[in-house]
Amino acid sequence: MVPDVLIIGGGLMALATALELRLRGASVTVLSRDRREAAAYAAAGMLAPQAEGLEPGPMLELCLRSRALYPDWTAKLESLTGLDSGYWPCGILRPAFADTPPPPELQQSDCPVEWLEGEALEQRQAGLGAEVVGAWWFPNDAQVDNRRQLVSALAAAIEQAGVTWHEEVEVLKIHQCQGEVTAVETNDQAKIYQAKHYLLAAGAWTGGLFDAAPVTPRKGQLMALRPGVGAEPEVGMPLGQVLFGDRIYIVPRRDGLIVLGATSEHVAFQPGNTAAGVHQLLTEAIRLCPALASYEIAETWWGFRPETADELPILGPSPLANLSLASGHYRNGVLLAPITAQILADWILEGKADPLLPAFQWDRL
Ligand code: GLY
Repeated sequence: MVPDVLIIGGGLMALATALELRLRGASVTVLSRDRREAAAYAAAGMLAPQAEGLEPGPMLELCLRSRALYPDWTAKLESLTGLDSGYWPCGILRPAFADTPPPPELQQSDCPVEWLEGEALEQRQAGLGAEVVGAWWFPNDAQVDNRRQLVSALAAAIEQAGVTWHEEVEVLKIHQCQGEVTAVETNDQAKIYQAKHYLLAAGAWTGGLFDAAPVTPRKGQLMALRPGVGAEPEVGMPLGQVLFGDRIYIVPRRDGLIVLGATSEHVAFQPGNTAAGVHQLLTEAIRLCPALASYEIAETWWGFRPETADELPILGPSPLANLSLASGHYRNGVLLAPITAQILADWILEGKADPLLPAFQWDRL
């Protein structure tokens, strides 16, 4: 039977939207080449519309709406699967050096932000580097353990909900005729898949499949640290919130692992961690939080953010009547998963256009 919706991609947008569509009654098939390639696995999991310093406008609004959905969305995943999603509303501290420019004004009533220095900063976070002159505190920003928990919970929820998920199936071509997708061709013994509606959510690989959605890769290198075996606890450790610095963010997990991210490189799909990348992460992390110098390196990895020319996602309709788009989330994919799923499900199943959709249409690019 032809499914209601066929989703191309195995990352967060694909999986979150698959679940939302299925829970609203649609039959859904997902085609994913290798879900571990998705930016979902690369990211550090910050939910940081405020700490990211987004300018007021549709993108900030989209991000704030998604952050507000996170508690209920992750609670739903947890109740569907019995798995911990790794959501932690821990707040984000953005330390500043003497030469750090201030972030855009974010004093909206529902978006508290506080400047901390001296004793107040010491109480919030002891042990920051000697060059830190103060910090902005964003108590409503948060994090989720995307790699170890969120993606697993989402995958389990999807399977339980009855989404048909083909892993290791790469879409090679989207066939179209008279303004509609007619089928997608895959590497699965050249098998053709068809559906009533299609959603392209292939992250950094989206542009290679569909010219009207020009999404390209922006590489990020990351690493994880853990306390050295037998080391004495240092002042201020373990961290109780995310530290968002210059060219670095330090994301403590509840079990003591510390994730460091991320470089931002225009190197196409060049794989691997480089000496320069690891050097940047360690230098900036230790400048911000000197205690990390004694930590052990647990892991290094990299991934590809899906980027557009204006660094905004492409959401909703496409030039083809039965194809929708959810890609290009760039630095904010983990954050934007729940709102993307909601907006795309409204669009695909009910033809309901969220008031923010025009700001993220494909034809602006
Ligand atoms: N969300 C931060 C990054 O993409 O590096």
